[in-house]
Amino acid sequence: MVVTPWAVTGDIDYGKLIEQFGVQHMTQGIADRIANHAGYMHMQLRRGVYISHRDTDWWLDEYEKGNKVGLYTGRGPSGHVHLGHLLPWFFCKYLQDAFDADLYFQMTDDEKYLFNDHLELEQTIGYTYENALDVIACGLDPSKTHIFSDTEHIQHLYKIGLRVAKRVTYSTAKAVFGFQDSDNIGMIWYPALQAMTCFLQSNREGANIPCLIPAAIDQDPYWRVTRDIAEKLGYYKPAQIHAKFLPGLAEGGKMSASQPETAIFTTDPPKTAARKVMSAFTGGRDTIEEQHKLGGRPNVCNVYAYYYFLFENDDEALMERESACKSGSLICGECKKQLAERVKAFLVDFQAKREKAKHVLDDFLIKPVE
Ligand code: TYM
Repeated sequence: MVVTPWAVTGDIDYGKLIEQFGVQHMTQGIADRIANHAGYMHMQLRRGVYISHRDTDWWLDEYEKGNKVGLYTGRGPSGHVHLGHLLPWFFCKYLQDAFDADLYFQMTDDEKYLFNDHLELEQTIGYTYENALDVIACGLDPSKTHIFSDTEHIQHLYKIGLRVAKRVTYSTAKAVFGFQDSDNIGMIWYPALQAMTCFLQSNREGANIPCLIPAAIDQDPYWRVTRDIAEKLGYYKPAQIHAKFLPGLAEGGKMSASQPETAIFTTDPPKTAARKVMSAFTGGRDTIEEQHKLGGRPNVCNVYAYYYFLFENDDEALMERESACKSGSLICGECKKQLAERVKAFLVDFQAKREKAKHVLDDFLIKPVE
């Protein structure tokens, strides 16, 4: 198993990761407190999508004391957005509404240029625009969302980025990110920019505002470095809530833009996405006879995972699907067909929202502090 901000491979053992990363297990108490403020328990909380955290309980304490709280997440625009990316963004929308929180959304076009040999800067900048449409299509509030790109909006970021960079030594960066002598020097500077956003809202508003970062667990190394230096800069340590990975269409591993045939992109024509679903790895048996006799295995099935993570909000219907699969009465072809229909309908709706986003993009971009 390898889990870094740039690569996730192998069978992911979340228990081991929690131990290795030194993060805290998610608790029912935290899920209940969030749901209590939101008025309902989000599907991702009910289904255990968030497996660990750092100081989310403290962030909730601050809110419950009547203090303002903020949110931060981001995207490395290396290609089109896939369904996995949407998981934490949908959750941000839920948290934004529940906590009336501003969301700072970082587009790291610099990161993707520096870390990928095959991407030119014009391409990552182009994807920044494309990906911002997806972020907006998640339904965020324009008056509380501040999308920015590292290259385009650097004037808002550079001074605080420098303050962070000065406090992180090269030996820490090497130890956390595994930099090699042959790496370009842009890569070594870049973590300062991902870290500084944790303090951006506080910096802009001139007050210390607790920041919570919803993201998959791959981004955690950045927060380790950030948390070490936060107090030296006079800020709170940022809190995190970590999601599991949505699997790809093939066996093993997460959905990843670097394997386009195993990912469903928000820009895929709905029919193409449906075709991809029909070729997904399942927990089915070799023959229909065996399937009827032995039943399927939803615990290892990617198709079931898509229902579980995204496409079946109704807990009872999900349980019925699971039992039908296990009993052998629901065969994989039928289950995939039903999912393909849901994915198609989802994409038609999401793509319409993406189109509309083109007209309101400006309302979501970061503005100078008044
Ligand atoms: P990036 O573009 O790799 O990923 C964007 C967000 O999607 C999450 N993610 C997934 N979640 C569930 N299932 C998957 N299969 C999956 N694949 C990716 C990532 O954890 C992330 O939350 N360096 C960052 C950009 C960034 C950022 C941030 C991300 C800058 N600041 C703050 C999160 C929080 C990156 O390249 O993300």
